[in-house]
Amino acid sequence: MSDAGSPAGKLYVIGLGPGPASWLTPEASEALAAVTDLVGYFSYVERVAPREGVTIHGSDNRVEIDRARHALELAEAGRVVGVVSGGDPGVFAMAAAVLEALESGPEAWRGIDIEILPGVSAMQAAAARIGAPLGGDFCAVSLSDNLKPWSIIARRLEAASVGDFVVALYNPASRARPRQIHDAFALLRKLRPHSTPVAFARAVGRPDERIVLTTLGEADPGLADMSTLVIVGATTTRLIARPGRNPFVLTPRSYGAGR
Ligand SMILES: C[S@@+](CC[C@H](N)C(=O)[O-])C[C@H]1O[C@@H](n2cnc3c(N)ncnc32)[C@H](O)[C@@H]1O
Repeated sequence: MSDAGSPAGKLYVIGLGPGPASWLTPEASEALAAVTDLVGYFSYVERVAPREGVTIHGSDNRVEIDRARHALELAEAGRVVGVVSGGDPGVFAMAAAVLEALESGPEAWRGIDIEILPGVSAMQAAAARIGAPLGGDFCAVSLSDNLKPWSIIARRLEAASVGDFVVALYNPASRARPRQIHDAFALLRKLRPHSTPVAFARAVGRPDERIVLTTLGEADPGLADMSTLVIVGATTTRLIARPGRNPFVLTPRSYGAGR
């Protein structure tokens, strides 16, 4: 809570989902209707319908902590602040940045009323497009080495393969980081059968959506960009053929019991 006498601000961390407004939760819509200030990466704040009286604080993608601190300052000053994130705010996104800023910030920030509102994550949206690839145990790994060294990413990909997890790869490539997805595939090809189903799900839920279903052996890692979520199956992941339609990808809930 704010100090006695100061206005009671609030900070919502709002998940916008990966694309269309129809994937926004009613709770997130209500919060967006209540905010006085909207804070976020330019392309996320642009996805929110403009409303009179709302101050927009757009910023570059690389300044998450500064953005989080600014949002906390605004809330401390009594504003009702919405920090917007694509997908779910807790998955490689602003909820962690806000809490990192809170942890290292002034003691007074701990009293701010903060609410984190979930959203549909890219891996859920991508999975729904191709079937049920996350029906068994899975993990998510960000290939961005901006915040952690590649050696950790490689170790996690190895561990996920030893554990035979389906892996959802976030942040697979960008113009500044074109190599990681190639290195990840080179590593995964040493550790998993080349027949493993792989999906490149780009811009899911947006007009330029593109889904490519392939195998680990045949995949072209160059298909991945900043808007792509890559799903690499486990040994139990398989395809269900359908006449005249794309096959479904299935990772069954049971393990090792055969088909
Ligand atoms: C910084 S992370 C944010 C993830 C987000 N918080 C979530 O829950 O989906 C950005 C990465 O999410 C994935 N992503 C986000 N939106 C996507 C979409 N519509 N289609 C496919 N992948 C998406 C991409 O891998 C992208 O590089």
